Amino acid sequence: MSGDRPTGRAALLSDLWRDRVQEAAAWLRGRGFTGGTGLILGSGLGNFVDAVSDPRAIDYAAIPGWATTTVAEHRGRLVAGRAGGRDVVVMQGRLHPYEGLPWDALLLPTAVLACLDVDTVVVTNAAGGLNRFYLPGDLMVIRDQLDLHLQDPLRGLLADPTPPAAAPGRGARPHAVYDEDLGRALIAAGAATGVPLHAGVYGSMWGPAYETKAEIGMLRRAGCDAVGMSTAPEASLLAALGVRVVGLSCITNPAREVGQPELSHQDVVEAGAMVRDRMARLLLDFLPRLG
Ligand code: HPA
Repeated sequence: MSGDRPTGRAALLSDLWRDRVQEAAAWLRGRGFTGGTGLILGSGLGNFVDAVSDPRAIDYAAIPGWATTTVAEHRGRLVAGRAGGRDVVVMQGRLHPYEGLPWDALLLPTAVLACLDVDTVVVTNAAGGLNRFYLPGDLMVIRDQLDLHLQDPLRGLLADPTPPAAAPGRGARPHAVYDEDLGRALIAAGAATGVPLHAGVYGSMWGPAYETKAEIGMLRRAGCDAVGMSTAPEASLLAALGVRVVGLSCITNPAREVGQPELSHQDVVEAGAMVRDRMARLLLDFLPRLG
């Protein structure tokens, strides 16, 4: 029966995964979580949800098959409502590769978000600055990424695992993960709101330890402008499922090869608090630009 055949983005997922993703997506759709723009908010950046009107919130723990984050300052709830003139579905807090879950559990919330029929997802994170011009409190549009998990997190999760000449939405990771037009729109929103933005390459490491000085040197020589422990696997999956992706890193600290003081998660969260109001202002100007 055609009713049993998966359609849309779910059809791009492997048999291993599809039912679990669809079950959670159907459960959420039944509660009005659907469509518009998705946002994934990183460490210390969750306050954007204060700008969401008519909010409806569900704890991750209540969503079928959805693991809960163990990281302090990641609130762990999904919020739907209106912001910047758009319907939004916001993940307030995310799961991280270093929490030890297998990729299918880790990326399930991202796949579910895609299956709620969002057209665009804004991914945000806290990151260390590698580019010597970046200062704590700066914001960086993610132009591209280097996923240093050194294995493709989508292995086994997509219906067609071969590497075809990929077009976005065909179930393979396209060449360009981040949408250039959306990156430009974000920079325009920065100009309109007086929030200067860098544009650079985000390197995603396993963590949870912050980088050694040698790793910082490697990342810099590899062309990374900022480093963090999230985002790249999610962005790859979203792009493979045909979702337009735009990324924003909040630089919370310089990553220095020499003389770096020990960094703690609390430092990162406190620095995020300095910049998050600016990020929220920027995003509220950006969302109406999505048309
Ligand atoms: N390294 C990795 N992740 C981070 C950093 C860092 O310096 N700062 C915030 N998240």
